[in-house]
Amino acid sequence: MPAPLEAAVPTADTGTARPQQLTRDGIPGWFFKVDQEAFAHFLTEQSAAGHTGDILELGTYLGRSAVLLGDHLRPGEQLTVCDLFDSEAGDADNAAEMTMSYRKTLTRSAFEANYLTFHPRLPVIVQAPTSVLADRRIPDGSCRFVHIDASHLYEHVAGDIEVARAALGENGLVALDDYRSEHTPGVSAAVWQAVFTGGLRPVLLTPMKFYGTWGDAEELQRVLLGRDWRAGGYTVDEDAIAGARVVRLKYAVKPGAAQAHRSAPRRLALDLLPPVATRATRRLLQALRDRRAGRPAVRTGWSRAG
Ligand SMILES: C[S@@+](CC[C@H](N)C(=O)[O-])C[C@H]1O[C@@H](n2cnc3c(N)ncnc32)[C@H](O)[C@@H]1O
Repeated sequence: MPAPLEAAVPTADTGTARPQQLTRDGIPGWFFKVDQEAFAHFLTEQSAAGHTGDILELGTYLGRSAVLLGDHLRPGEQLTVCDLFDSEAGDADNAAEMTMSYRKTLTRSAFEANYLTFHPRLPVIVQAPTSVLADRRIPDGSCRFVHIDASHLYEHVAGDIEVARAALGENGLVALDDYRSEHTPGVSAAVWQAVFTGGLRPVLLTPMKFYGTWGDAEELQRVLLGRDWRAGGYTVDEDAIAGARVVRLKYAVKPGAAQAHRSAPRRLALDLLPPVATRATRRLLQALRDRRAGRPAVRTGWSRAG
């Protein structure tokens, strides 16, 4: 891993640049350990097996997942990322989603600065709605891995899945974020529609992501289970969906851990919430602590947009 360099990232509240020692985990985003490990495992094993191909990411934000994808490029392979960054969304629902979750912190230049902290060259950047990729600018069958993590709206995700289907080569893998979150029913609908009517085969489910293929799901599961995940502190379970096996992977919760670390649920909530909501949560928790300590009240508010 290259030594961290001075990098420009937006500050939590103002979006202005400040220098700091940036680490991969210091990049704001929603890409958590279990998925970092699953991405790294699949991509490493693909390379080890001589499976070459490009990598595509729809929805990049400040680069937390793109930086890891870039780690796995082999000579001749290309990473393409597609994101609106600071551009306008094409429709009102998408614009509302952008305002609520990303606008305060996201700029293309902040992404580029973050990415260049860890890699010598930028990926190919498509700054546009992911729907532009329906023009097949990503050559059919050229990719080995596609990460879909952009709009949460059903119509958009259904289109993104079609892009992935055309772009992926034999036994290529697609990872879809937020397939089961309460606030993203459109993603769930698009994912399970692709499974039941579009030939997408589930490979792996983590708390945040669905992994699937239009190729040989059992082979990919063999690759996945080639690692002893339990020894690394994960739980591994198997389910069947309409007769097809799917693996589930997540962190093991040790008995008594919740008692021993009373702040664990709070830390988990802070980890899982979008950064803007996290800031609001921190302010709320601080206000409660102040009240308990008898300190004067400071105005606080709760909103998804922080
Ligand atoms: C959840 S964030 C991506 C997080 C990132 N993959 C990570 O792991 O940190 C979603 C991103 O999708 C982008 N986005 C939302 N709607 C989009 C659309 N229709 N087309 C392209 N990008 C979109 C947003 O700008 C935002 O950067």
